[in-house]
Amino acid sequence: MIDLLLGLQWGDEGKGKIVDVLTKKYDIIARFQGGPNAGHTLEFDGHKHVLHTIPSGIFHDSAVNLVGNGVVIDPVVFKKELEKLTPYKLNISHRLLISRKAHVILPTHRLLDQASEAAKGSAKIGSTLKGIGPTYMDKTGRNGIRIGDIEAPDWKEKYRALRDKHLQMIENYKVAIDFDLDPLEQEFFDAVETLKSLQFIDSEHYLEQQQRLGKRILAEGAQGSLLDIDFGTYPYVTSSNTTAAGACTGLGIAPNRIQKVIGIFKAYTTRVGSGPFPTELFDENGITLGRVGNEFGATTGRARRCGWLDLVALKYAITVNGVTELNMMKADVLSGFPSIEVCTHYRYKGELIDHLPFDIDSKYVEPVYETLKGWNADLTGLNSLDQLPHELNDYIHYLETALEVPITIVSVGPDRSQTLFRNS
Ligand code: GDP
Ligand code: IMO
Ligand code: MG
Repeated sequence: MIDLLLGLQWGDEGKGKIVDVLTKKYDIIARFQGGPNAGHTLEFDGHKHVLHTIPSGIFHDSAVNLVGNGVVIDPVVFKKELEKLTPYKLNISHRLLISRKAHVILPTHRLLDQASEAAKGSAKIGSTLKGIGPTYMDKTGRNGIRIGDIEAPDWKEKYRALRDKHLQMIENYKVAIDFDLDPLEQEFFDAVETLKSLQFIDSEHYLEQQQRLGKRILAEGAQGSLLDIDFGTYPYVTSSNTTAAGACTGLGIAPNRIQKVIGIFKAYTTRVGSGPFPTELFDENGITLGRVGNEFGATTGRARRCGWLDLVALKYAITVNGVTELNMMKADVLSGFPSIEVCTHYRYKGELIDHLPFDIDSKYVEPVYETLKGWNADLTGLNSLDQLPHELNDYIHYLETALEVPITIVSVGPDRSQTLFRNS
């Protein structure tokens, strides 16, 4: 049995928190795509922890955490993540597995990312500069280096050939970037040795075996559906399939084995980096959402752009993923707004539409809102659903009717404990 959990907006919906909360129900947590561009935040017992590549079930002794073949791994970031986990004294060696088919981010992939963004100037994607795009390009271009390769004695030859090609490419960019490769390589090779102390496995085979044994698996997505390489706001997207299909290719699981598809969304919307965002707010409300929601990127620290909930985009993401249940995050952040706007339609080239058109740039799309009543109560200490203000219950029911999917979790704060479960 496999369930999926994925983000329905532009990332940072709170996936890390919910995976951590749900891990007790699963035996295996498996990341299926993305890499260190992700920042998944977990809070519990007064600790706050951000994970980038390591799945968000790592703090539970009972769970195996698998980094799937669809993930791209930067050994340097991975090593730092491992080091940050040392104080927790987790028994990681048996519980953290890496697919041999996952691709490796080289130092020159990061440099290529930087050169590409610099050359784009004002048209830049706003990449996290973690080397994600160039690594997936090498994967699809059939040039990449995989985790399984670093087990071979001659892998450094392969490394040098690819590195030299990258250096040539960097020279071809019109904008020069500054770098000193020696220390970067030293750090990289050192981190590769650390990585080698973990278990590399043929993960599709492993997952098949575990399914036969009746183990429960939760596939953890990174980024969000609107950043999907095919269905997101291209070209302002990431370089992987962040949607449900990505779990099949990123883990080697068959679509008919998937049961629940849990779609996670914030009670409003945020985006970090460039690209269209129809409901973005440039007024006091936008500033308030950013301040109260503490909307700063978990990986880059950049301020996130904020706006109202966009039902047109959310419905699209629900359809593309086949979402069977919804988790609504950060309901507490909406407290204090006298009224709340929800975008139900777009005005697109003079017409009123409720589907996502090819281009949602503000040149073409103007959001049409419905106004709902706000509430003014501190939700962060609530531990039961009947304590919710009736206006928030109305908001939840309104969304369930509009989206035609039940909301099974309402999150009212960043901590594990600030999670309210609803019957599906
Ligand atoms: P992810 O990338 O989807 O895992 O999300 P991030 O960790 O990047 O961003 C979500 C942020 O919101 C983190 O700082 C979380 O600690 C925080 N968070 C999660 N759920 C809630 C919530 O219900 N209320 C509030 N106020 N913060 C939350
Ligand atoms: P999590 O898993 C939010 C955004 C970047 C940029 C675009 C491309 O924490 O939700 P990339 O580095 O992939 O080339 O950047 O995608 N982006 C994210 N935004 N959350 C993320 O991950 C993101 N990962 C990438 O800001 O706009
Ligand atoms: Mg994040």
